[in-house]
Amino acid sequence: KLNFDEKVESLKKLKEEKDAVILAHYYVNEDIQAIADYIGDSFFLAQKATELKEKTIVMAGVYFMGESVKILNPSKNVLMPDLGADCPMAHMVSVEKIKEMREKYDDLAVVTYINSTAEIKAYSDICVTSSNAAKIVNKLKEKNIFFVPDKNLGDYIKKSLPNKNVILNDGYCPIHDEIDLDDVRSFKGKVKILAHPECRKEVLDLADFIGSTKAIINEAGKYDDVLVVTEEGIFTELKKKYPNINFRKLRKSPICNDMKKLNIDKVIKVIANNENQVEVDKEIREKALIPLKRMLELGA
Ligand code: 13P
Ligand code: SF4
Repeated sequence: KLNFDEKVESLKKLKEEKDAVILAHYYVNEDIQAIADYIGDSFFLAQKATELKEKTIVMAGVYFMGESVKILNPSKNVLMPDLGADCPMAHMVSVEKIKEMREKYDDLAVVTYINSTAEIKAYSDICVTSSNAAKIVNKLKEKNIFFVPDKNLGDYIKKSLPNKNVILNDGYCPIHDEIDLDDVRSFKGKVKILAHPECRKEVLDLADFIGSTKAIINEAGKYDDVLVVTEEGIFTELKKKYPNINFRKLRKSPICNDMKKLNIDKVIKVIANNENQVEVDKEIREKALIPLKRMLELGA
């Protein structure tokens, strides 16, 4: 059995041998963040994936992230450390619902959070992430916006853009949605509260700053006593970047069990055996590429 340093060594050789690069989201376990070539929020990861020269991209995150990398880079070999790591919210809207809305409104844009399946993206006009949702929606010519699947991010955009008619869907992130309001309230006025827009609106009302994981990490540097309201994997980067900031934790710290399915052993195994390749049906892939590309153009 190898110790951590030996695993890092063997991974280094494997990556060279197989021409592989590792992307990781801030929510994955510390061992992966330590060995990743790039760590970021959903937008950064999607964008970075289009700039890589390596033949194999390992996407250490949940399934929609690997799928998006494959859609944007169909000629690349995209591997996932655990194909079972999925985002439940990605499935919380149906194609039928989108079709229904399209029938109802002439002047409608279907705006899809990147946390969604490839099939849903294929029926969308544009994708967004939490780092650029309001900015992108504001640039669209359509007045009516069907925002899927996240009702919480959707509601946040609705409030930020009163000139638009944002129609909400009933999907949500189970991890952010269940964050306890009183838990957050107990910190109000005492420390700076930085929250992810997947939180419920009552929680967001208490926040001093709302943004993506990356935006939260950047903002945190301005203060010395902070409550971060999002999945706890973010503390790996926060503590590394700001050893002197006092980071508070909620009584019940939010944990995404899907992100936590990944570890360094799985990363080594998939690269060594070229396992867990992401495949997306050609027709869906080609349709889903359009809204993802539009996101990269309008969201940067
Ligand atoms: P961001 O990193 O884009 O803020 O996304 C958070 C998230 O829930 C990813 O699943
Ligand atoms: Fe999905 Fe929520 Fe996990 Fe992000 S934290 S992957 S939105 S379930």
